[in-house]
Amino acid sequence: MHEAAWAKLDTPAEYFRIEIPLGQLEKAVPLLVQAGLNGWNCTLPHKIEMFRLTQVHDPTALQAESVNTVQIVDGKIHGWSTDAGGWSRAMSEAWPHSVPLGRTLILGCGGVGQSIARHLAHIGCQSLTLVNRDPKRAQILLDQLTPLVASRFPLQQVNWNPSSIQKALSETDLLVHGTTLGMKSDDPLPISKEWMNPPLRVYDTLYSKDFTPLVQAARERGCLAEDGLAMLLHQGALSFAIWAKKPAPLDSMRTALNLVTGRNL
Ligand SMILES: NC(=O)c1ccc[n+]([C@@H]2O[C@H](COP(=O)([O-])OP(=O)(O)OC[C@H]3O[C@@H](n4cnc5c(N)ncnc54)[C@H](OP(=O)(O)O)[C@@H]3O)[C@@H](O)[C@H]2O)c1
Repeated sequence: MHEAAWAKLDTPAEYFRIEIPLGQLEKAVPLLVQAGLNGWNCTLPHKIEMFRLTQVHDPTALQAESVNTVQIVDGKIHGWSTDAGGWSRAMSEAWPHSVPLGRTLILGCGGVGQSIARHLAHIGCQSLTLVNRDPKRAQILLDQLTPLVASRFPLQQVNWNPSSIQKALSETDLLVHGTTLGMKSDDPLPISKEWMNPPLRVYDTLYSKDFTPLVQAARERGCLAEDGLAMLLHQGALSFAIWAKKPAPLDSMRTALNLVTGRNL
């Protein structure tokens, strides 16, 4: 997707993957800078650590307290977060009339869940419920969001247990899934299929060549559901625009993504 975009702009550039183990990012970043990289995307589990290592934060990074896009400018590490922007564009593409957002439940308060929750605290929704396997993480996020939301809409945390999640889902219009459950083929669904009932809509930030198991299950229950492939496209296009200093050739990126996934975004 990125290489197709650079080729479209006739710019010689390479986008490649480097795997950095958890806990090694701090050591790796100076080596990436020394190696002369112009920038990079940073993905799980490093986005929050990358925020800490960033020297100049764009407002998007400050809002998300997370960095997924880096550019090296005069030797300094500049950081952005394009996750919420990509999610927002993907949501408008999937459901053009979905704004204002209804009662929203975010399942998973890691890097992506936190970015979307902070974005919603900014743009508003009818209500926001946070659920995370480790309740301390959801509580910390809740405490950070409370002054930002400033009583404009109800904000709550619900514990990761079946009856609490099922009840919360029965009072939810939009479920945003942001855990890593579903990345491995033998992962269980993050919630029971039976808890998803129309008119609940499901946005799974995970993506796969075939729609994710959560999306498949939600659709089988008659719910509108989308996976995160369009979010991948749009957050990537926003990153590209930062590096290229011009709008990304979205059609070329979309075509490349469709080609490798066999999907029709
Ligand atoms: N479509 C896109 O463009 C896009 C962009 C970004 C991310 N994503 C997707 O979003 C997902 C999360 O990424 P991230 O950056 O937020 O990762 P992260 O910061 O590492 O957070 C992982 C989240 O998953 C939860 N989790 C992990 N294992 C779990 C389990 N066995 N049961 C329940 N919860 C579990 C964690 O809960 P604990 O706090 O309890 O560990 C945490 O909430 C990934 O699958 C990624 O592919 C998609």
